[in-house]
Amino acid sequence: MPPPHGPYRGLTAEEKAAAPKFTKELGLRILSYLKPYKVKFAIVIVVVLVSAALGVVPSLLTGKMVDDGLLAGNFRVLVELIIASFLVTVVSNALGLLETWLNTSIAQGIIYDMKTQMYTHFQKQPYQYFVESKQGEIVTRMTGDVNGVQSAVSTTMTNSIKNVGTIIVSIVALFQCNWILALTGMAIVPFFILPARVTGKRRWIIARESQEKYDEANSILGETLSESGILLVWLFGKQKREAERFKGVSSDLYSLNIREMLAGRSFFMFINIFTNFGPLLLYLVGGILMLRMEGGPQVTVGEITAAISILGRIYRPVNELMNVGVDFTRSLALFERIFSTLDMVPSIVDKKGATAPEVIRGEIEYDDVHFAYKEDGPEILQGVSFHVEPGETYALVGSSGAGKSTMISLVPRLYDVLAGAIRIDGKDVRDWPLQELRNHIGFVTQDTFLFNDTIRANLLYAKPEATDEELMDACRRAGIADFIEELKDGLDTVVGNRGVRLSGGEKQRLSLARVILKDPEVILLDEATASLDSVSESHIQEALAPLLKEKTSLVVAHRLSTILDADRILVLRDGHIVAAGTNTDLLESSEDYRTFYNTQFKAGKEETQSQRRRALREQRTEAEVSALAWRRSQGHWQELGDFESYY
Ligand SMILES: Nc1ncnc2c1ncn2[C@@H]1O[C@H](COP(=O)(O)OP(=O)(O)OP(=O)(O)O)[C@@H](O)[C@H]1O
Ligand SMILES: [Mg+2]
Repeated sequence: MPPPHGPYRGLTAEEKAAAPKFTKELGLRILSYLKPYKVKFAIVIVVVLVSAALGVVPSLLTGKMVDDGLLAGNFRVLVELIIASFLVTVVSNALGLLETWLNTSIAQGIIYDMKTQMYTHFQKQPYQYFVESKQGEIVTRMTGDVNGVQSAVSTTMTNSIKNVGTIIVSIVALFQCNWILALTGMAIVPFFILPARVTGKRRWIIARESQEKYDEANSILGETLSESGILLVWLFGKQKREAERFKGVSSDLYSLNIREMLAGRSFFMFINIFTNFGPLLLYLVGGILMLRMEGGPQVTVGEITAAISILGRIYRPVNELMNVGVDFTRSLALFERIFSTLDMVPSIVDKKGATAPEVIRGEIEYDDVHFAYKEDGPEILQGVSFHVEPGETYALVGSSGAGKSTMISLVPRLYDVLAGAIRIDGKDVRDWPLQELRNHIGFVTQDTFLFNDTIRANLLYAKPEATDEELMDACRRAGIADFIEELKDGLDTVVGNRGVRLSGGEKQRLSLARVILKDPEVILLDEATASLDSVSESHIQEALAPLLKEKTSLVVAHRLSTILDADRILVLRDGHIVAAGTNTDLLESSEDYRTFYNTQFKAGKEETQSQRRRALREQRTEAEVSALAWRRSQGHWQELGDFESYY
C-alpha cells in the first residue's frame, strides 16, 4: 500500500475497500462480548451520564458566584456557592474513579475472554496453519490486536457516551444562560469538523500501515533471535544483513509513527485556534449585548462567565466525538481481524459421532492413500497401500524428499489424506475422535522438540502422574538414564530452547523415554537424517529394539540397524511403494533398494562398522565378555561372526 501524501489526501479506492464496513452482524457480534458484563456496563453508562451532568454544574455555579455573590455583594451566598461547587467537583471526580475501575474491568474481562478463546481456537488449527503462518504473527494477533480492545471499549464506547452526555447537558445549560451566547458558541463547532474528519481518516491509514510493519518487525525478531535462527545468522555471517533488515522496518515504523503523531498535531492546532477564538467571540457578543443594546443589558456578567466556562467544556467532547469515527473504524478493523482469526474453520476435527474401537490392538492399514499438501500441488503419495499387523515393525526407505515423513504424519492426522484411507484397527483415522487417536500413537519426529524446561517436566508431559522411579525406568529403557544420573541436577536439568543443551542423540533418547512413558499401541518414528556417533547409535538401537518389538511401529529408517530389525521394509519412490520385503529379499529383488542400501546404508555401515563394534565392546558387561571369550575358545567362530556382523 503506497503511503498517503499531503495532509488532506483522501482515501483511494483500494483503501476505501480495505476500510471495514459496519454491519449489523458485526455490531451484534461485538456486543455479544459485552453481554457477560452488561450489569457493569449499565452502571458505567449511568455513572458516565451523571458525571457528565455534574460536570457542567461548577460552570453554572461560577456564573452565580459572579452575579449573586460578587456583583450583588453577598458574601454568604458566595461562600455557599464555593462550597457547593467544591463538593460537586469532589463527587464527579469520585465518579470518575468508579468509571475507570468499571471500564477497565469490563475491557480486561473482554480481553481475557477473547485471548482464551483465541488460544484454544489456534490449537484447533491444522498443522499446515502453523507451518505456513509467519513467526510473530500469531503473537501479534494475540497481544497487539486483543489489547487494542481496551481502547475500543474505554475510549470508543464509554467516552462516546460520556461525550454525547456532556455535549447535550452543556448545550442545554448554555441555552439556559443566554440563547444568543449559546448560538454564538455553537457557530464555531463546525470549524472543528472538517479538519477532524480529514486527519482522522489519514491517521487510520497510517495506523493500518504501521500495524503491518509491527507484524514484520515481530516476525524478524522471532525468527532471527531464536536459538536456531541466530545460529543460521552467525554461520552465514548475515548479522549485518539482518540488522539492516530490522533497521529498515524500524525506520519505516519511525517515520510512520511520527506521521501519525503529526497528523494528530495538525488537527490539534486547528482545535487550539478555535478553542481560543470561542471565548473571545463570546466576550465580544456578550459585550455588545451588555453595553450596546438599547433598553439595557440583555445579559449579566455571570452569564457571560458561565457561558464561556461551559463552552470550554464542549470543545473537547466535540473534538473527541469527531475522532470517534477514526477510533471506531480502527476498532472495527481490530475486531474484524480478531473475528477473521476466530472464523478460521479448523479442517481437521472430530467427525460427528466419532468413536474409538473398544479394544485397541494397533493394526495399521494404508488403503490406496493419495496425498498432496495443496489441492493444486504435486501428489506426494499416489496410491500407497500396505498393512501392518499388531506388533510388527515396518521400515520405510526412500530418497530424501520422497515423502516418508509425510506418509507417517498422516496417521495422527497432522494432515488428512486426499483420497483413500488410513485405518487403525480397521477404523478410518478420520472416524476416530482426534484426541483418542493421538493418545494411542507415539510419534518421535525427525527433529525432536523439547520445552525449555527441566528433563522431568518434559517427561511428565507424557504422563503427569508418573513418579521419579517411573521416569528413571523409562529413561533406562531409552538408554538415557546413565546420562541423567551423571548430570549435577539430574532430572531437574533445564534443557534449553528446543532442547539445545542436549546432543542430538540425547534429545532423541529423551523423546523415546517420553514415548515409553506414554505407552501407546502404535509407534511412529522418524529417524533423524543426521548420522549419530556410534555410541549414541548403539544406545538408541538398544532402546529401540525391545520397544519396537512390543508395539506396532512404522519407522522412517536412516540407520542400518533399523532396517535389519524390521519385519518388512517398504521402498518409496515417486509416491508409490515400489518394493517390499526383508533386507535379504530386497537386496535380491529390488534394484531401487540395492541402490539405497549401497548409498545410504552400506556406505555408513562400512565407515562406522568398526567404531560400532568398539562401542559395543565397551558396553558389554563382564559376563558377556567372558561368555564371548569362552565361545571363542570353544571355536564358535561362525556364531561369533554372525553376532559381530549383526552390529
Ligand atoms: N508442509 C509442507 N508443505 C508443502 N510441501 C511439503 C511440506 N512438507 C514437506 N513437503 C514436500 O513434500 C515432499 C516430501 O517431504 P518429506 O518431508 O515427506 O520427505 P522425506 O521422505 O521425509 O525426506 P527426508 O528423508 O529428507 O526426511 C518434499 O518434496 C517436500 O518438499
Ligand atoms: Mg523426513
